[in-house]
Amino acid sequence: MQDLQFNRHRRLRHSTNLRSLVRETHLSVNDLIYPIFVVEGENKRNEVASMPGVYHLSLDLLIKEMDEVVGLGIKSVILFGVPDHKDELGTQAYHDNGIVQQATRLVKEHYPELVVIADTCLCQYTSHGHCGIVEEGQILNDPTLDLLAKTAVSQAQAGADIIAPSNMMDGFVAAIRFGLDEAGFGHVPIMSYGVKYSSAFYGPFRDAAHSTPQFGDRKTYQMDPANRLEALREAESDLQEGADFIIVKPALSYLDIIRDVKNNYNVPVVAYNVSGEYSMVKAAAANGWINEKDIVMEMLTSMKRAGVDLIITYFSKDIARWLLEDK
Ligand code: PBG
Repeated sequence: MQDLQFNRHRRLRHSTNLRSLVRETHLSVNDLIYPIFVVEGENKRNEVASMPGVYHLSLDLLIKEMDEVVGLGIKSVILFGVPDHKDELGTQAYHDNGIVQQATRLVKEHYPELVVIADTCLCQYTSHGHCGIVEEGQILNDPTLDLLAKTAVSQAQAGADIIAPSNMMDGFVAAIRFGLDEAGFGHVPIMSYGVKYSSAFYGPFRDAAHSTPQFGDRKTYQMDPANRLEALREAESDLQEGADFIIVKPALSYLDIIRDVKNNYNVPVVAYNVSGEYSMVKAAAANGWINEKDIVMEMLTSMKRAGVDLIITYFSKDIARWLLEDK
């Protein structure tokens, strides 16, 4: 026995403080982006059935929510609109008084320092639920680009600090960058959902945003989960076209992709910890099968370890609270 040669890794795990000293990854409230669903009407705070703890909020209740978010130290929110009126061309997405434009103005008025991100897509606004213009069952790429640029410009006019296009048409970053620059918003960054997979993990979001496609699926524009090299091609195009951030979405099953993007490109990388990832944890926790706090902190720490700089997560308020408690 005394001749045995081996390394003693346990030396550095001996006590809580020693483990703190050698910890490599830290989660902070500065990493968090909180998604918010805004709806038309008044006095609405309706919980999304498949996403406990996530609400549809009308504008009159939005500032109260922001007080809480800002009070917890969260620096950024991403706004999703759930409009009453949908049509073929998703006109409410780029209407001056669209729900997201109104919400953005209101939030910026009360909290000018809060970084407001506008999700730029059409699927919540189109009657067919697709992210682009539809003709004879086809989702048309180039004609859709105009509408996306218009949407981005109207969101920037309303005061959005960052534009986050999520619709996966080819050239969407180029079109939006051109549109923003032309309209005098050259200073507004683009956070592109450049690496967005066609994923079953979006199910609960589509409930929340009423954006399930009415026919077919999104496989002709969102990526095949089996592909890795394609993610690098997508990210590269978006960066060439002027993206300032790259989002990888979903997060949990795609940590390898996050690491690949981080290793290949020197830009801030964002993970979208999507609705399905949220709802699975909530359901298991409600049944007492897992410890919610421990699971969430482990998941989000793993995303940071994989290389992300920021995380869009429905758990933002909980995490901010836990970080304060643990201080
Ligand atoms: C819109 C959009 C989706 C999500 C964010 N923006 C859904 C989709 O592509 O169907 C999903 C977010 C989530 O699941 O939390 N294109």
